[in-house]
Amino acid sequence: MINAVEVKNITKRFPGVTANDRINLEIKRGEIHAIVGENGAGKSTLMKILSGLYQPDEGEIYIFGKKAVISSPVKAIEMKIGMVHQHFMLIPRFTVLENIILGSEIRAGISIDNKKAKKIVEDLCSMYNFSINLDSRVENISIGQAQRVEILKVLFRGADILVLDEPTAVLAPQEVKELFLNLRRLKQEGKTIVFISHKLDEVLDIADRITVLRRGRVVGSAVPGEITKEQLARMMVGKPVLIDLKKRETDPGEVLLSVKNLRVKDPGGKSVLNGISFEVKGGEIFGIAGIEGNGQKELAEAIIGLVNIDSGSIKIRNIDIKGLSVNQIRKMKVAYIPEDRHKNGLVLPMKVWENEIMGFQRDDKFYKKPLLKLKSAQDFTRSKIREYSISVSSINQAVEDLSGGNQQKVILARELSENPDVIIASQPTRGLDIGATEFVHEQLLKKRDEGKAILLISADLEEVLALSDRVGVMYNGSIIAEFKPGEITLEDVGIYMLGGPEKKVSGE
Ligand SMILES: Nc1ncnc2c1ncn2[C@@H]1O[C@H](COP(=O)(O)OP(=O)(O)OP(=O)(O)O)[C@@H](O)[C@H]1O
Ligand SMILES: [Mg+2]
Repeated sequence: MINAVEVKNITKRFPGVTANDRINLEIKRGEIHAIVGENGAGKSTLMKILSGLYQPDEGEIYIFGKKAVISSPVKAIEMKIGMVHQHFMLIPRFTVLENIILGSEIRAGISIDNKKAKKIVEDLCSMYNFSINLDSRVENISIGQAQRVEILKVLFRGADILVLDEPTAVLAPQEVKELFLNLRRLKQEGKTIVFISHKLDEVLDIADRITVLRRGRVVGSAVPGEITKEQLARMMVGKPVLIDLKKRETDPGEVLLSVKNLRVKDPGGKSVLNGISFEVKGGEIFGIAGIEGNGQKELAEAIIGLVNIDSGSIKIRNIDIKGLSVNQIRKMKVAYIPEDRHKNGLVLPMKVWENEIMGFQRDDKFYKKPLLKLKSAQDFTRSKIREYSISVSSINQAVEDLSGGNQQKVILARELSENPDVIIASQPTRGLDIGATEFVHEQLLKKRDEGKAILLISADLEEVLALSDRVGVMYNGSIIAEFKPGEITLEDVGIYMLGGPEKKVSGE
């Protein structure tokens, strides 16, 4: 049988690093092929080569048996390769539909035939079970929905080979199931899927074959059913990986974060937080579970001062933060790990060390009027790089050239290093590999044991249940259930994530 993709001796070098080192890979037509490996292993680079974003320095690619030079993304689409990006590349001010059809072929004369396109997209949506409002502006939709748009975009172009770079990192468990159903349906139709994920359970569930990369090289391949999760993790990391969290009993102290009757409206005047109340004490992790887009983002942004409060109050150590700026709130020892690192966490074109001290550049540690203490800033960055195993070729590298997981580590290292009292952690381990995820979990538990208050917002239910002392489930702008991990089954939490048992909801 003809391979959909065959990659021969592909090498791609960047200054200071060989991202892909003589990679050989065969992807069969109609299979779901997973690529796994640690942060910085070279997965996205290889996918970008396949989708025409990068040119390899050496090697050859064959698509459906024919030698191919994929010189641009347009060329890739012509060859029926569609990439769903790890970093969304949508135009925020355009509608969902406009984004999907942007730059594609259906045209009537010179203008795009919107009606016809809409019909096709609607059919795709029902065929693959994608629920999304085609008329919403992309700037108003959640990350989860934005991803659906990216996938639809590729399907709309008739791709036969779909490349998905960490598609499930942004999805709730139910949504992952749905996506997997869709991927299987695509596969049945003979489409080929290349899939990157750090979640090994998922990979073992969905993939027909798995290729493992380490430091730019293929170090092995596997077939689910013939390999355990532990063996796969070991193949990735090169040594055994422990997956065992130690959570001590703590004695929660004073309330450090208190949210009362918080109401927030979106820019269109629609209510997105409908009277949220909770308290987080020092020495406590309060977890918020829920499918993305139910107000979690607005909650985090209200606490850090990025969105305006409509009514209600937020207090840090009993001080009302109403009207304070983001900087003033951060100065109250509040750390913020944002869900959208490209929008709020990093300045992409700036250097690693500049990003590592961002927001603290006027602190005594890094500043002596009128100058930045360059050496302190750079030494600080170097020590964080070591502590968090951030893989960079130089501290002067632009942060946009780091791999996704390493960008996340830059933020974590910065936010957790200033000894915050209150930590707002939104999706803190999204995109991190197993080792880095474990490290972040340990750091969060350490902060908790030191008496800090942590608000953990995560779409990863297992993460919420493993780390939190108490858990609230958010649905439609409200916390509709609160419990302690162990008091409730995973399935029951899932029911609340979808709105809860009917009686409960209507009785409230
Ligand atoms: N445009 C670029 N310029 C310089 N270096 C780059 C560029 N793109 C990637 N790299 C480097 O190549 C290596 C591989 O990065 P890549 O993004 O492929 O990793 P990855 O396996 O996708 O990791 P992650 O799991 O964190 O997403 C990294 O060291 C990264 O810093
Ligand atoms: Mg990547």
